[in-house]
Amino acid sequence: MEFVYNAILVLHFIGLAALLGGFIVQMRSPDKGVNPAMWHGALTQLVTGVLLVGIASAGLVSGEEVDHAKIAVKLVIVLIITVLAFVGRRRTPPQTALWGTIGALTLAEVVIAVFWN
Ligand code: HEM
Repeated sequence: MEFVYNAILVLHFIGLAALLGGFIVQMRSPDKGVNPAMWHGALTQLVTGVLLVGIASAGLVSGEEVDHAKIAVKLVIVLIITVLAFVGRRRTPPQTALWGTIGALTLAEVVIAVFWN
């Protein structure tokens, strides 16, 4: 199961790359908005995050403890990101506020993932 867990963790990083990359690539664009990379990245983070927690909570991977408070915060933030991305992808750019909020929340997720131990 450790292999599956690690494979999902790789997908978790690919989702992060898509979400943050989709945000960063528009930094200098006058038509900022939610692009497909951001939308798919948000969904990937939601799905892979929940799967990682599910596998770790079930005790299927040795040495992986689940911090429930940290996960709850990450989950709430990713749900907000996903709703904003869902709304933004249906609207015509520029959607600078939506784009900026998603970027800021994504950065917050990375900081929480790394610093909250
Ligand atoms: C935009 C959303 C997210 C971002 C940017 C993100 C980012 C990251 C990053 C950078 C890591 C590696 C650092 C570390 O291991 O501490 C990580 C690990 C992890 N994330 Fe996320 N995450 C997101 C959403 C979620 C969600 C929603 C969940 C759970 C519901 C989740 C669960 C986990 C778990 C369990 C790990 C630990 C993997 C391990 O070290 O074995 N993540 N995340």
